[in-house]
Amino acid sequence: NSPALIDRHGRTIRYLRVSVTDRCDLRCRYCMAEKMSFLPRSALLSLDEMALIAERFIERGVSKIRLTGGEPLVRRDAIDLVRRLGRHVGTGLDELTMTTNGTRLVEHAGALADAGVRRINVSLDSIDPDRFRHITRHGDLRQVLAGIRAATAAGIAVKINTVALKGLNEDELPAILAWTVAEGHDLTLIETMPLGAIDEDRADRFVPLTRVFDTLAQRFALVRNAHDSGGPARYWQVDGSSTRLGLISPLTGNFCQGCNRVRLTTEGMLYTCLGHDDSVDLKAAIRSGGLAAVDAALDEAIAAKPAAHDFNVEAGAAPAVSRHMSVTGG
Ligand code: GTP
Ligand code: 5AD
Ligand code: SF4
Repeated sequence: NSPALIDRHGRTIRYLRVSVTDRCDLRCRYCMAEKMSFLPRSALLSLDEMALIAERFIERGVSKIRLTGGEPLVRRDAIDLVRRLGRHVGTGLDELTMTTNGTRLVEHAGALADAGVRRINVSLDSIDPDRFRHITRHGDLRQVLAGIRAATAAGIAVKINTVALKGLNEDELPAILAWTVAEGHDLTLIETMPLGAIDEDRADRFVPLTRVFDTLAQRFALVRNAHDSGGPARYWQVDGSSTRLGLISPLTGNFCQGCNRVRLTTEGMLYTCLGHDDSVDLKAAIRSGGLAAVDAALDEAIAAKPAAHDFNVEAGAAPAVSRHMSVTGG
C-alpha cells in the first residue's frame, strides 16, 4: 500500500480538486475579467494524463475528487474523464463530484448520473434573470434552472453555491435561501476571495458572512448542524426543512487548520493551497519519469503545504495571488 499524503502540520490529504479546463462560457464579474486570455490547448494535460494522476492520488488515500474549472463541461470529452474516474466510486473513491455553472447540465446530467455522480454543486448568484445576466455577463438563468431540474430528475442532489456580493445580490440572499428551501436544495454562501485581477476592486463587493448570517437568522430558524461534506463549509439546518445552509468564510472564519485538500490545474500544476503560489509541475513529472516521478513530486509538495492563506480584501489591496480561481478551480 502506498503511503498516505500527510503534510508537516499533520493534515491528511483526502480531497483532490481537478480543474478540467480554465475556460468558461460565462464571465462572472467577481471571478473573471471581461477579456480573459486562456491557456493554449497545447499546454493542457490530456484527459488520460489527468486520469492517471488522479488515480495516483486515489492510491495515496484520496477518497473524494471534485472536477471543477473554469466550467468543466465545456471541455470536449469531459464526460469520458467522469466515466473513467467513476469506475473508482465505491472502491477507492467515496465520492466523485463536480462544481459547474449549470449551463450544460440539460445535455450531460444523465451521463453524470450513469457515471456514479450522486451530487453536484451549481454556482448560482441570483435567481432574478436580469441580475443573473448582469453578474455573469452572458448567462441565461432559464438555461441554468433547466439544468438544475435535469440533474435532480437524474437523481443527482444539487447544492447551490452563491458568492455574497455587495450591491449585486446581498439583498437577495434571504430570497435565495427561501428558494432553495422550496426546491429542496442545500445552499452554500461564499465570501469573495482575492484571486486574479478583475475589472473592479473586490473590496467594493466584499460582504462578511457574519453579517449575512445575522440577517438570515432573523427570518429562518437556523440550527447548527454537525454535517461535514468534506469541504470547507460549516453547516446549519434550516429548521423544518431538508435544506442545509453552508457558510464558507475564509476571511471571517478561517478553516485552514482542518484543510484536507489540494488542487490540480489543467496544465498539470499541483497547488497545495488556494491562497499561495507554491506549486509543483506534475505534467513535467509524468512526462519525464512516469508515475514514480509523480509520487516523488507529491511527497515534496505535500510536505511543504502552507499552513494557511493570508487573504485580505481591504480597499486597494492587490489580489493575494495573481492567478484566477478558474486556474485551480477554487
Ligand atoms: P462540498 O464537497 O460540497 O463541501 O464542496 P466544496 O465547498 O469543497 O467545493 P466547491 O467547489 O463548491 O467550492 C465552494 C467554494 O469553496 C469555492 O469558492 C472554493 O474556492 C472554496 N474553497 C474550496 N476549498 C477551499 C480551500 O481550501 N480554501 C479556500 N479558501 N476556499 C476553498
Ligand atoms: N471568490 C469566491 N468564490 C469564487 N468562485 C469563483 N471565484 C471566486 C472568488 N474570487 C466560486 C464560484 C464557484 C466556486 C468554485 O467558486 O462561484 O461556485
Ligand atoms: Fe487549505 Fe489553503 Fe484553503 Fe486554507 S486557504 S483551507 S490551507 S487550501
